[in-house]
Amino acid sequence: MPEPILAFTRVSKRFADGTVALAGVDLRVAPGEFVSVVGPSGCGKSTLLRIASGLSEASEGTVTVRTDKPGYVFQDPTLLPWRTVQANVELFAELRGLPKEERRRRAEEAIELVGLSDFARHRPRALSGGMRMRASLARSLTLAPELFLFDEPFGALDEITRERLNDELLQLFLARRFAALFVTHSVTEAVYMSTRVVVMSGRPGQVLGDFAVPFDYPRSSQLRFDEPFAHLAGQVSARLRGTSRTTGGGSGGLKSEATAQVAGGHAEPSGSPPVNQGSGGLKSAAGTQAAGGHATPSGSPPVDKAVHR
Ligand SMILES: Nc1ncnc2c1ncn2[C@@H]1O[C@H](COP(=O)(O)OP(=O)(O)O)[C@@H](O)[C@H]1O
Ligand SMILES: [Mg+2]
Repeated sequence: MPEPILAFTRVSKRFADGTVALAGVDLRVAPGEFVSVVGPSGCGKSTLLRIASGLSEASEGTVTVRTDKPGYVFQDPTLLPWRTVQANVELFAELRGLPKEERRRRAEEAIELVGLSDFARHRPRALSGGMRMRASLARSLTLAPELFLFDEPFGALDEITRERLNDELLQLFLARRFAALFVTHSVTEAVYMSTRVVVMSGRPGQVLGDFAVPFDYPRSSQLRFDEPFAHLAGQVSARLRGTSRTTGGGSGGLKSEATAQVAGGHAEPSGSPPVNQGSGGLKSAAGTQAAGGHATPSGSPPVDKAVHR
């Protein structure tokens, strides 16, 4: 396994008022991996992201972040209402002190990437919820993060917009190959987006399950309706409810191979057969997910800065 870009080792978090939000969380994200975290409300998901970003400190355990610039996208796009989209997207680069020409160039490129070029001169109030979220994403993209932290970014959007943004974000993921830690309430969204899905318990949050997702990228929106997808989503849901489902759902050996609990194992997001395949092809793709397998971080920038918190 390549060196993780983000590693939590036995991380606990106790707030000043005595609330224990996290208890002994072990979680690793390798370069190029897309890891979703699902868990009940209040189980410490946002706390986990805040610790990863350096906004908060672990009470116990070790957090290692091998990049100096994680991107952070919240459910609330937090755009400045008096600035145009272009000026909003330039903000982070501005705060970094990048020269005017450079930040304009980066913002234009990011705005183009998220499909907002026609709205660059609009103010946020003229945008739909989905467009505001695209602007928020573009603002983070200007800093070319090697690690993206997402805190339920699409949770406030309607289902169609959310699914469209899922696909757009996956396109960005394939183009830029950042690593992602993506918090969501939606099991479907988690499975659709990710190379791995981590299930957390209720507070204090602990890791209850770690599921490799064997489907290749690029993923088609139709994948959500395929039987192997539903099967895996069902298993994630069952773990979330604290039960272990034993029905096979007619997919033969798929169950054990595709969703075996993989400590440190990762999906291989490239170089495998295409998405819409029968369960035979899926099985063989899933069979490569043995512990110790890893994502292919093609095009990932080198990571040389380790921050221990
Ligand atoms: N600053 C804080 N002080 C005390 N308790 C907090 C603080 N921040 C969060 N909590 C509590 O920690 C738990 C986890 O919160 P959070 O990480 O926001 O959960 P999630 O994002 O999974 O819904 C909750 O019970 C919340 O009330
Ligand atoms: Mg939260």
